[in-house]
Amino acid sequence: MKQISTEKDLSTALASSIKSKKTIGFVPTMGALHRGHISLIETCKKQCDTTIVSIFVNPTQFNDKKDFERYPRTIDNDLALLKKAGVDFVFLPNEKLIYPKPDKRKFNFGKLDQLLEGKHRPGHFNGVAQVVSRLLEMIKPDKLFLGQKDFQQVMVIRELIKQLKSPVKVVVCPTVRDDENLAMSSRNANLSDEEYDEATFIPIWLEEVKKLATRYKVSQIKARIETLIAQREIMKLDYFEICDTETLEPIKEFSETDQAVALIAVFVGKTRLIDNVLM
Ligand code: PAF
Repeated sequence: MKQISTEKDLSTALASSIKSKKTIGFVPTMGALHRGHISLIETCKKQCDTTIVSIFVNPTQFNDKKDFERYPRTIDNDLALLKKAGVDFVFLPNEKLIYPKPDKRKFNFGKLDQLLEGKHRPGHFNGVAQVVSRLLEMIKPDKLFLGQKDFQQVMVIRELIKQLKSPVKVVVCPTVRDDENLAMSSRNANLSDEEYDEATFIPIWLEEVKKLATRYKVSQIKARIETLIAQREIMKLDYFEICDTETLEPIKEFSETDQAVALIAVFVGKTRLIDNVLM
Protein backbone atom coordinates (compact mmCIF):
# COMPACT_ATOMS: atom_id res chain seq x y z
CA MET A 1 0.00 0.00 0.00
CA LYS A 2 1.42 3.36 -1.01
CA GLN A 3 0.79 6.49 1.06
CA ILE A 4 0.35 9.67 -0.95
CA SER A 5 0.15 13.20 0.31
CA THR A 6 1.01 15.40 -2.69
CA GLU A 7 -0.80 16.00 -5.97
CA LYS A 8 2.37 15.08 -7.91
CA ASP A 9 2.67 11.70 -6.14
CA LEU A 10 -1.02 11.15 -6.74
CA SER A 11 -0.76 11.63 -10.49
CA THR A 12 2.40 9.47 -10.64
CA ALA A 13 0.65 6.73 -8.67
CA LEU A 14 -2.45 6.77 -10.85
CA ALA A 15 -0.60 7.23 -14.15
CA SER A 16 0.16 3.53 -14.64
CA SER A 17 -3.48 2.56 -13.92
CA ILE A 18 -4.66 5.14 -16.44
CA LYS A 19 -2.06 4.07 -19.03
CA SER A 20 -2.95 0.41 -18.77
CA LYS A 21 -6.67 1.30 -18.80
CA LYS A 22 -7.21 -0.16 -15.33
CA THR A 23 -10.40 0.95 -13.60
CA ILE A 24 -9.89 3.17 -10.57
CA GLY A 25 -12.25 2.81 -7.62
CA PHE A 26 -12.33 5.49 -4.95
CA VAL A 27 -13.54 5.33 -1.34
CA PRO A 28 -13.57 8.79 0.30
CA THR A 29 -13.40 8.77 4.11
CA MET A 30 -12.72 10.98 7.08
CA GLY A 31 -10.80 8.21 8.81
CA ALA A 32 -11.70 6.51 12.10
CA LEU A 33 -12.29 3.52 9.88
CA HIS A 34 -14.63 0.68 10.78
CA ARG A 35 -16.26 -2.35 9.18
CA GLY A 36 -18.56 -0.10 7.15
CA HIS A 37 -15.57 1.43 5.36
CA ILE A 38 -13.96 -1.98 4.94
CA SER A 39 -17.08 -3.29 3.22
CA LEU A 40 -16.93 -0.31 0.78
CA ILE A 41 -13.29 -1.20 0.12
CA GLU A 42 -14.12 -4.88 -0.42
CA THR A 43 -16.82 -3.99 -2.94
CA CYS A 44 -14.44 -1.54 -4.62
CA LYS A 45 -11.74 -4.20 -4.89
CA LYS A 46 -14.20 -6.62 -6.49
CA GLN A 47 -15.35 -4.08 -9.06
CA CYS A 48 -12.15 -2.15 -9.86
CA ASP A 49 -8.51 -2.88 -10.69
CA THR A 50 -7.08 -0.14 -8.49
CA THR A 51 -8.46 0.92 -5.10
CA ILE A 52 -7.69 4.31 -3.62
CA VAL A 53 -8.95 5.48 -0.23
CA SER A 54 -8.70 9.06 1.00
CA ILE A 55 -8.55 10.15 4.63
CA PHE A 56 -9.32 13.81 5.21
CA VAL A 57 -11.38 15.29 8.02
CA ASN A 58 -12.97 18.04 5.98
CA PRO A 59 -13.43 21.20 8.09
CA THR A 60 -15.89 22.84 5.68
CA GLN A 61 -18.59 20.21 6.24
CA PHE A 62 -18.75 20.74 10.01
CA ASN A 63 -21.18 23.49 10.91
CA ASP A 64 -20.08 23.13 14.54
CA LYS A 65 -16.39 23.70 15.33
CA LYS A 66 -16.62 21.55 18.48
CA ASP A 67 -17.99 18.66 16.41
CA PHE A 68 -14.97 18.99 14.09
CA GLU A 69 -12.61 18.91 17.07
CA ARG A 70 -14.41 15.95 18.64
CA TYR A 71 -14.33 13.94 15.41
CA PRO A 72 -12.25 10.79 16.16
CA ARG A 73 -8.80 10.66 14.57
CA THR A 74 -7.14 7.23 14.59
CA ILE A 75 -4.62 7.39 11.77
CA ASP A 76 -2.28 4.56 12.86
CA ASN A 77 -5.14 2.13 13.26
CA ASP A 78 -6.65 3.34 9.95
CA LEU A 79 -3.43 2.68 8.05
CA ALA A 80 -3.13 -0.81 9.54
CA LEU A 81 -6.75 -1.59 8.54
CA LEU A 82 -6.24 -0.29 5.00
CA LYS A 83 -3.07 -2.32 4.58
CA LYS A 84 -4.85 -5.45 5.79
CA ALA A 85 -7.75 -4.74 3.43
CA GLY A 86 -5.33 -4.70 0.48
CA VAL A 87 -5.83 -1.09 -0.60
CA ASP A 88 -3.45 0.05 -3.36
CA PHE A 89 -3.21 3.73 -2.46
CA VAL A 90 -4.13 5.83 0.55
CA PHE A 91 -4.41 9.53 -0.13
CA LEU A 92 -3.68 11.71 2.92
CA PRO A 93 -3.97 15.31 1.75
CA ASN A 94 -3.54 18.23 4.12
CA GLU A 95 -5.92 21.18 4.16
CA LYS A 96 -3.70 23.32 1.91
CA LEU A 97 -3.78 20.69 -0.81
CA ILE A 98 -7.56 20.37 -0.80
CA TYR A 99 -8.18 24.08 -0.33
CA PRO A 100 -5.17 26.05 -1.68
CA LYS A 101 -7.35 29.11 -1.06
CA PRO A 102 -10.62 29.35 0.88
CA ASP A 103 -13.33 27.57 -1.08
CA LYS A 104 -16.10 30.11 -1.63
CA ARG A 105 -18.15 27.93 -3.98
CA LYS A 106 -21.86 27.74 -3.18
CA PHE A 107 -23.61 24.73 -4.67
CA ASN A 108 -27.31 24.69 -5.33
CA PHE A 109 -28.99 21.41 -4.49
CA GLY A 110 -32.44 22.95 -4.16
CA LYS A 111 -34.75 21.27 -1.65
CA LEU A 112 -32.34 18.39 -1.15
CA ASP A 113 -30.09 20.70 0.87
CA GLN A 114 -32.92 22.24 2.86
CA LEU A 115 -34.39 19.08 4.35
CA LEU A 116 -33.27 16.77 7.17
CA GLU A 117 -29.44 16.95 7.46
CA GLY A 118 -29.42 20.04 5.24
CA LYS A 119 -31.88 21.84 7.51
CA HIS A 120 -30.33 20.66 10.78
CA ARG A 121 -26.70 21.13 9.73
CA PRO A 122 -26.71 24.28 7.57
CA GLY A 123 -23.78 24.37 5.13
CA HIS A 124 -22.92 20.71 5.73
CA PHE A 125 -23.69 19.48 2.22
CA ASN A 126 -22.02 22.50 0.64
CA GLY A 127 -18.85 21.45 2.47
CA VAL A 128 -19.31 17.83 1.38
CA ALA A 129 -19.72 19.01 -2.22
CA GLN A 130 -16.58 21.17 -1.96
CA VAL A 131 -14.37 18.33 -0.77
CA VAL A 132 -15.88 15.61 -2.98
CA SER A 133 -15.58 17.78 -6.09
CA ARG A 134 -11.91 18.49 -5.26
CA LEU A 135 -11.16 14.81 -4.64
CA LEU A 136 -12.91 13.77 -7.86
CA GLU A 137 -10.99 16.43 -9.77
CA MET A 138 -7.67 15.14 -8.39
CA ILE A 139 -8.30 11.38 -8.49
CA LYS A 140 -10.62 11.09 -11.51
CA PRO A 141 -11.92 7.67 -10.48
CA ASP A 142 -14.17 5.48 -12.62
CA LYS A 143 -16.29 4.51 -9.62
CA LEU A 144 -17.07 6.17 -6.31
CA PHE A 145 -18.15 3.99 -3.37
CA LEU A 146 -20.57 5.38 -0.78
CA GLY A 147 -22.59 3.92 2.11
CA GLN A 148 -26.36 3.85 2.31
CA LYS A 149 -26.20 4.96 5.95
CA ASP A 150 -25.61 8.48 4.59
CA PHE A 151 -28.75 8.27 2.47
CA GLN A 152 -29.11 12.01 1.85
CA GLN A 153 -25.37 12.45 1.25
CA VAL A 154 -25.61 9.86 -1.54
CA MET A 155 -28.43 11.85 -3.15
CA VAL A 156 -26.48 15.11 -2.84
CA ILE A 157 -23.31 13.58 -4.31
CA ARG A 158 -25.28 12.08 -7.21
CA GLU A 159 -26.70 15.55 -7.91
CA LEU A 160 -23.20 17.08 -7.58
CA ILE A 161 -21.82 14.59 -10.11
CA LYS A 162 -24.66 15.49 -12.49
CA GLN A 163 -23.92 19.20 -12.09
CA LEU A 164 -20.17 18.64 -12.60
CA LYS A 165 -20.93 16.49 -15.67
CA SER A 166 -18.48 13.97 -14.24
CA PRO A 167 -18.49 10.46 -15.77
CA VAL A 168 -17.82 8.79 -12.38
CA LYS A 169 -20.31 6.04 -11.44
CA VAL A 170 -21.68 5.92 -7.90
CA VAL A 171 -21.89 2.54 -6.19
CA VAL A 172 -24.01 2.52 -3.03
CA CYS A 173 -23.24 -0.22 -0.49
CA PRO A 174 -25.60 -1.41 2.26
CA THR A 175 -25.25 -0.11 5.81
CA VAL A 176 -23.03 -2.35 7.92
CA ARG A 177 -24.29 -2.99 11.46
CA ASP A 178 -22.50 -4.26 14.54
CA ASP A 179 -23.60 -7.25 16.64
CA GLU A 180 -26.27 -5.12 18.33
CA ASN A 181 -27.50 -3.88 14.94
CA LEU A 182 -26.21 -0.35 15.53
CA ALA A 183 -25.15 1.20 12.21
CA MET A 184 -21.35 1.37 12.05
CA SER A 185 -20.19 4.98 12.34
CA SER A 186 -16.91 6.66 13.21
CA ARG A 187 -18.87 8.61 15.81
CA ASN A 188 -19.74 5.42 17.74
CA ALA A 189 -16.20 5.61 19.15
CA ASN A 190 -17.30 8.69 21.13
CA LEU A 191 -20.10 6.82 22.95
CA SER A 192 -19.70 5.79 26.59
CA ASP A 193 -20.91 2.29 27.52
CA GLU A 194 -24.20 3.71 28.78
CA GLU A 195 -24.66 5.80 25.63
CA TYR A 196 -23.86 2.82 23.44
CA ASP A 197 -26.59 0.77 25.17
CA GLU A 198 -29.06 3.60 24.57
CA ALA A 199 -27.99 3.95 20.93
CA THR A 200 -28.86 0.32 20.26
CA PHE A 201 -32.53 1.30 20.57
CA ILE A 202 -32.24 3.20 17.27
CA PRO A 203 -32.18 0.12 14.98
CA ILE A 204 -34.88 -1.51 17.12
CA TRP A 205 -37.15 1.49 16.61
CA LEU A 206 -36.44 1.61 12.89
CA GLU A 207 -37.40 -2.06 12.55
CA GLU A 208 -40.58 -1.31 14.49
CA VAL A 209 -41.35 1.58 12.13
CA LYS A 210 -41.16 -0.84 9.21
CA LYS A 211 -43.73 -3.13 10.87
CA LEU A 212 -46.02 -0.27 11.92
CA ALA A 213 -46.11 1.01 8.34
CA THR A 214 -48.52 -1.76 7.35
CA ARG A 215 -51.13 -0.69 9.93
CA TYR A 216 -50.59 2.92 10.95
CA LYS A 217 -50.51 6.37 9.40
CA VAL A 218 -47.25 8.27 8.96
CA SER A 219 -48.34 10.84 11.59
CA GLN A 220 -49.06 8.06 14.13
CA ILE A 221 -45.69 6.41 13.54
CA LYS A 222 -43.91 9.74 13.91
CA ALA A 223 -45.74 10.43 17.16
CA ARG A 224 -44.80 6.98 18.47
CA ILE A 225 -41.08 7.48 17.78
CA GLU A 226 -41.12 11.00 19.22
CA THR A 227 -42.74 9.67 22.41
CA LEU A 228 -40.29 6.80 22.71
CA ILE A 229 -37.29 9.11 22.40
CA ALA A 230 -38.72 11.72 24.75
CA GLN A 231 -38.73 8.99 27.43
CA ARG A 232 -34.99 8.37 27.13
CA GLU A 233 -32.99 10.58 29.45
CA ILE A 234 -29.77 10.89 27.51
CA MET A 235 -31.29 11.05 24.03
CA LYS A 236 -32.55 14.05 22.11
CA LEU A 237 -34.29 13.68 18.79
CA ASP A 238 -32.97 15.96 16.04
CA TYR A 239 -35.42 14.67 13.44
CA PHE A 240 -37.40 11.62 12.46
CA GLU A 241 -39.08 11.73 9.05
CA ILE A 242 -40.61 9.30 6.61
CA CYS A 243 -39.74 10.51 3.12
CA ASP A 244 -40.09 9.68 -0.53
CA THR A 245 -36.88 7.98 -1.71
CA GLU A 246 -36.88 9.94 -4.99
CA THR A 247 -37.33 13.47 -3.67
CA LEU A 248 -36.57 13.01 0.03
CA GLU A 249 -39.63 15.13 0.80
CA PRO A 250 -41.54 14.01 3.90
CA ILE A 251 -44.67 12.07 2.98
CA LYS A 252 -48.05 12.31 4.68
CA GLU A 253 -49.39 8.93 3.55
CA PHE A 254 -47.86 5.67 2.36
CA SER A 255 -48.39 4.92 -1.31
CA GLU A 256 -48.61 1.63 -3.19
CA THR A 257 -46.25 2.83 -5.90
CA ASP A 258 -43.65 5.12 -4.31
CA GLN A 259 -40.95 3.82 -2.01
CA ALA A 260 -40.45 5.46 1.37
CA VAL A 261 -37.46 5.71 3.68
CA ALA A 262 -37.50 6.46 7.41
CA LEU A 263 -34.58 8.66 8.47
CA ILE A 264 -33.52 9.55 11.97
CA ALA A 265 -30.93 11.78 13.64
CA VAL A 266 -30.55 11.54 17.41
CA PHE A 267 -28.18 12.98 19.95
CA VAL A 268 -27.04 10.31 22.38
CA GLY A 269 -25.30 12.42 24.98
CA LYS A 270 -23.17 14.76 22.85
CA THR A 271 -22.84 12.32 19.95
CA ARG A 272 -25.14 12.77 16.98
CA LEU A 273 -26.04 9.53 15.21
CA ILE A 274 -28.00 9.01 11.99
CA ASP A 275 -29.63 5.92 10.54
CA ASN A 276 -32.31 5.02 8.02
CA VAL A 277 -34.41 2.13 6.83
CA LEU A 278 -36.12 1.53 3.51
CA MET A 279 -39.76 0.71 3.94
O1 PAF B 1 -19.13 10.39 4.52
C1 PAF B 1 -18.03 10.90 4.80
O2 PAF B 1 -17.20 10.33 5.52
C2 PAF B 1 -17.71 12.30 4.28
O3 PAF B 1 -18.84 13.09 4.23
C3 PAF B 1 -16.99 12.29 2.92
C4 PAF B 1 -17.86 11.73 1.83
C5 PAF B 1 -15.71 11.47 3.04
C6 PAF B 1 -16.60 13.72 2.54
O4 PAF B 1 -15.78 14.30 3.50
